[in-house]
Amino acid sequence: MTGKEKEKEEEMTIPQIEEIEEEKETEYDPEPEPEPVEGSEQDIEELPGIGPKTAEKLKEAGYGALMNIATASASEIAAVADVGEGTASKAIMAARGALHMGYETGLQALENRKKILKLTTGSKELDKLLGGGLETCSITECYGAFGSAKTQIAHQLAVNAQLPIDEGGLNGAVLYIDTEHTFRPERIMEMCNAKGLDHKKILANIHVGRAYNSDHQILLADKAKDIMKEKNIKLVIVDSLMSHFRADYIGRGSLAGRQQKLNQHLHVLQKLADTYNALVYITNQVMSKPDMLFGDPTAAVGGHVLHHAATFRIYLRKSKGDTRICKLVDSPNLPDGETVLRITPDGVIDR
Ligand code: GTP
Ligand code: MG
Repeated sequence: MTGKEKEKEEEMTIPQIEEIEEEKETEYDPEPEPEPVEGSEQDIEELPGIGPKTAEKLKEAGYGALMNIATASASEIAAVADVGEGTASKAIMAARGALHMGYETGLQALENRKKILKLTTGSKELDKLLGGGLETCSITECYGAFGSAKTQIAHQLAVNAQLPIDEGGLNGAVLYIDTEHTFRPERIMEMCNAKGLDHKKILANIHVGRAYNSDHQILLADKAKDIMKEKNIKLVIVDSLMSHFRADYIGRGSLAGRQQKLNQHLHVLQKLADTYNALVYITNQVMSKPDMLFGDPTAAVGGHVLHHAATFRIYLRKSKGDTRICKLVDSPNLPDGETVLRITPDGVIDR
């Protein structure tokens, strides 16, 4: 890329960049598939059985984009739009058809990966470990003991996500589901000052929802789709994912019910990530495994359901002073590894 081209790309907004990526696609594939992202602009009224009135109901309930309908269940649409399940099913199939949601070749998958954006953590070393930063279209889980800096990193990401793409940001707003009442605007202010950013502008783009119990947390995530597009949300934070679930479902007998709810909740979060090319950052607590004789006896809570939902998993450990050891645990395309970062008054930085 020449200097001029680079300059031009830096000036571009996200939709412009996506347009160019679509153009590039034609170089590889003579008959490119339309990209199934961002809940296509095609009007949902064009779907079979969905008249203007039904479309209005769907839009009001947050199903205004084709992607929302294509990934919903027939019973969900039937209930929301007040139509029969048969009609709902037809509309869903048509939406899937319009978005070409079937199999794709490896080459198409590679092309689709190009729309993925990377978010800097504030630490270049950790970014390197993550292959350039945290990725959109996926869930990143950060787990560790109390005080290991999960919340501090959440705050840093909420600031960084608003940076332009060429500065390691996502050029977007943030949705922050706070379950432990630990979101601190003052801390955001401090981090903004360190970067010379206008804290009022940054805080105005962080939409905080305080969850009072697990059902409320689920509701907040369900409602997110109503504002994702309008507010250009590119980062969704859930800090912390499991605390309410652990408090609300006590005892072995309730475990199956808890995991079922948790699974649905995670699916909603993954859908937000996929539909809006957004990044989901969840924090998680740890428990100690008394049956472990060798190695580190701590493990993330949430069981297999959560283990499989998160694409990237970062394990944080306290170290000397303000340093924290970050370990990348089972990523799909990166080697496991460790790095050290610091939590300073200015925010997350390299050691
Ligand atoms: P739990 O939510 O309790 O599980 O912990 P956590 O992993 O979310 O920890 P958190 O991110 O709250 O990190 C706490 C650590 O970050 C503290 O022990 C402090 O060392 C540091 N920290 C927290 N707030 C600040 C702050 O305002 N300024 C600075 N410099 N450091 C802070
Ligand atoms: Mg915390």
